[in-house]
Amino acid sequence: METRFEKKLLCIGAGYVGGPTMAMIAYKCPQYKITVIDINHKRIAEWNSDNLPIYEPGLDEIVKAARGRNLFFSTDVDKAIKESDIIFVSVNTPTKTFGVGAGMAADLQYWEKTARHILQCAESPKIIVEKSTLPVKTALAMERILTSNNNKIHFEVLSNPEFLAEGTAINDLENPDRVLIGSRQTESGIKARDELVEIYANWINKQRIITSDIWSSELSKIVSNAFLAQRISSINSISALCEKTDADINDVARAVGFDSRIGMKFLNASIGFGGSCFKKDILNLVYLCRYYGLNEVADYWDSVVKINDFQKERFVINMLTAMFNTLVNKKICLWGFAFKANTGDTRESPAIYIAKRLIEEKAELVITDPKALERARIDLQNIDANVKYVEDPYEAASGSYAIAIMTEWDLYKNLNYEKIYNSMIKPAFFFDGRNIVDHQRLFEIGFNVFPIGKPALTHF
Ligand code: UDX
Ligand code: ADP
Repeated sequence: METRFEKKLLCIGAGYVGGPTMAMIAYKCPQYKITVIDINHKRIAEWNSDNLPIYEPGLDEIVKAARGRNLFFSTDVDKAIKESDIIFVSVNTPTKTFGVGAGMAADLQYWEKTARHILQCAESPKIIVEKSTLPVKTALAMERILTSNNNKIHFEVLSNPEFLAEGTAINDLENPDRVLIGSRQTESGIKARDELVEIYANWINKQRIITSDIWSSELSKIVSNAFLAQRISSINSISALCEKTDADINDVARAVGFDSRIGMKFLNASIGFGGSCFKKDILNLVYLCRYYGLNEVADYWDSVVKINDFQKERFVINMLTAMFNTLVNKKICLWGFAFKANTGDTRESPAIYIAKRLIEEKAELVITDPKALERARIDLQNIDANVKYVEDPYEAASGSYAIAIMTEWDLYKNLNYEKIYNSMIKPAFFFDGRNIVDHQRLFEIGFNVFPIGKPALTHF
């Protein structure tokens, strides 16, 4: 039964990266056996159930098609390591919270534990694929640990960063802009690299599969995220200027984005970027630059995070100022809590910061979100005495002084705004942190509307 598979692939870490990525490889390549393991037993049980641990459009179908056929979720790490030819590692690499580099550098303890575990269990040569985003030169550390057995077994370490974005992961995996594979430029390094190229070439045009040395590959991932985040901080910084000068950020973004050298994407002004990657990766980059004495370069990238913090705080101050400088005992409804639409993930969501600041101002919060309410409860635990979590946006808004959009869910674009307005305390305030509703229409209904980077529309 086992021999029917051409190759055996293992992924260590069944999170937002490991789960969908391996599901896609299994879906596209029935000739390979794919096992995904995690130390978190609950997570694995969920991957084996009808309620997958992450919400991602299109993921259910792919998992259902491959699970039990050539895709297996398990907690038996030792057995899986022994029988696999290629091991993808996508364990978490959070920012360090202690010691040297606290708040900046990546915490590599899970990564190192994994390397040692592979070394302990492996009985045959293996290709190790670094999938988590890691600081430059981590693969070298991995290599050192793996070769500490005096070369009895040969391990080849590759870097293959994942560029998927949450909410669009399935499309990003099926039609990626590029797949990047970094390897050592030795004979065995290039052989291992070509083996990984062949796996992706099952469904991706080879012209889109690019290769480099390991360090450049690791750095490219961090730099891609830094560039994307920098676009958002750039447009958000200009949104602050637009609010002071009555220019319209959407018009500015459109005019700028029409320049084909700049392009339209990632120019949506917002309450700030969130997600598990952008801040973490930029802080890694900043740490790396400081380590090499490049303080000007470090300061440059650090300012991307600073503008993001400024944008979140600015939003809170705008709310406070508009609502007569007090939010005490005022019911305020937050629409959305996920860090972006089409995910239930709230890691680094700007909504967390904004909710905490509004709680400090003694507002009463009502939070609604179609997929992230459970996470919101965890994010605000111990400080949510004055917070309610409500599924239905109409019920959530009823009796409130203000609505603030945190997440650009399509659902919020076309609600019955007359009904919502009628159910609120007057004057009714609407803060659109994502510029997704028709501001003029809401103003005509009676709302005082505060978009991002555009003149406010008020009745007083
Ligand atoms: C990001 C990268 O896009 C992806 O390539 C990488 O692999 C992981 O990090 P992700 O964090 O899942 O993906 O989502 P992304 O779509 O990049 O959005 C990040 C944040 O930026 C979200 O909070 C989003 O709302 C915000 N954003 C995005 C804006 O505020 N404005 C924009 O124009 C685009
Ligand atoms: P990402 O967004 O990068 O995928 P996640 O936090 O969603 O990050 O997933 C990382 C997963 O790795 C978690 O489910 C965690 O339990 C798992 N993990 C961490 N360390 C190990 C380990 N040593 N062995 C197996 N799984 C691990």
